[in-house]
Amino acid sequence: MTRPWETWRAAVARHQPDYQDSVELNEVVSTLQHRPPLVFAGEVDHLRKELGRAGRHESFVLIGGDCAETFAESTANQLRLKIQTLLQMAVVLTYGSSMPVVKIGRIAGQYAKPRSSPFESRGEEVLPSYLGDAVNSFEFTAESRLHDPKRLLDTYNASAASLNLIRAFAKGGYADLRRVHEWNRGFAANPVFARYEQLAQEIHRAVRFMEAAGADFDSLRQVDFYSSHEALLLEYESALTRIDSRTGLPYDTSGHFLWIGERTRDADGAHVELLSQVRNPIGVKLGPTSTAEDIKRLTDRLNPQGEEGRLTFMARMGAEEIGSALPPLLEATKSDGRPVTWISDPMHGNTISTANGFKTRDFDTIMSEVRSFFDIHDAVGTVPAGLHVELTGADVTEVIGGSEGLDDLALEQRYESLVDPRLNHQQSLEIAFQVAEMAARANEGQTSQASSPDAFAVDDWHLFDTSSQAGRLL
Ligand code: PEP
Ligand code: CO
Repeated sequence: MTRPWETWRAAVARHQPDYQDSVELNEVVSTLQHRPPLVFAGEVDHLRKELGRAGRHESFVLIGGDCAETFAESTANQLRLKIQTLLQMAVVLTYGSSMPVVKIGRIAGQYAKPRSSPFESRGEEVLPSYLGDAVNSFEFTAESRLHDPKRLLDTYNASAASLNLIRAFAKGGYADLRRVHEWNRGFAANPVFARYEQLAQEIHRAVRFMEAAGADFDSLRQVDFYSSHEALLLEYESALTRIDSRTGLPYDTSGHFLWIGERTRDADGAHVELLSQVRNPIGVKLGPTSTAEDIKRLTDRLNPQGEEGRLTFMARMGAEEIGSALPPLLEATKSDGRPVTWISDPMHGNTISTANGFKTRDFDTIMSEVRSFFDIHDAVGTVPAGLHVELTGADVTEVIGGSEGLDDLALEQRYESLVDPRLNHQQSLEIAFQVAEMAARANEGQTSQASSPDAFAVDDWHLFDTSSQAGRLL
């Protein structure tokens, strides 16, 4: 028996693994169908509302993490560094935008990648491309590159372990505003980053003021931190979809926020079909070839009723193209009238190759795309609601530029990404300081008032109904 959301099986599914053994795949899928949900319906609903608020210019969204997580690097320390970086960025952005920042990690599920070519050649040898740890292994051997359905179970387990740690960090005192602020002071005190000193001082005074005034509420000590990933592998996403016991509606419980990539955003394709059925907030990446017609069809498919927070468009145009590509799309959403949350992904349209053979991005080009994103929204009268970046908390050298002046040669020092180049810790903070200034300017003249986020209610923790056909074997 197929489940109601399995209508995707009748549509064209791009960028899917090619599993040799369908019996093994079915076993994995049925195991996943019986595993507990990784996220809860109440959390997902809460995030959808928060994204709706961002679309109204009442909060700002920050999404960040690795291009591709790996099982080996999903360690406590790597997770801690990534969360620390995102929390530090969020403090700066909160101050700059005078709005709550919705914090979303590209973490705890980002294990699968669409690739431009299904094959990779090295010398004479041609093997299937690495599609992320959820599908195969990076090592260049025929055995490693086989598509292995058991890796979907490893993906579930790694995601669950990561989410467990994230929840502990977010609620257990590690995310305390005062502590995060002290980390940022360390950054701004470094002479290389002197240009951020003034903003850092202002934040410092604001935090001191709150302390002096006796503010000691939970929102200083704890944060809401959400997980996201590209919903690429349809068998995995479909197997983790559950009916919520309260509303009777399907939720994809593999993560809170799920997005559809630039390569799989066909409005008639299987990815759009599956995600049109679940209640999660959905993102769609839009590259420079996107048209006003795509906007309309995607909105019809993913958000026909025009629910706030349901649909986020993530513009990844490239610094060169954004000036011509983005305005017609913003005009299209504006005249359509159904609400949408616009986020800038300044990474994926700006990848270049260096003479010494590295795939990299230039910090200045990334900033240029973000700046254009803000300016174009200002000109059209729409809301620049957030930022999506690929980053890591470690001191890698994968993106060139920034105040430390990393150049092509520096890429040879510490290039660790298996897929796209990531901002390192310092570069991530620099982006936050610069975007905070832009968000502050975007705020001038805005009339809407930032409201504090709704408290998360205890009855939001209703469970999924595993007794219905939702959790059963196919
Ligand atoms: C990504 O976010 O890593 C990615 C592959 O992006 P896009 O779909 O925008 O190319
Ligand atoms: Co990427």
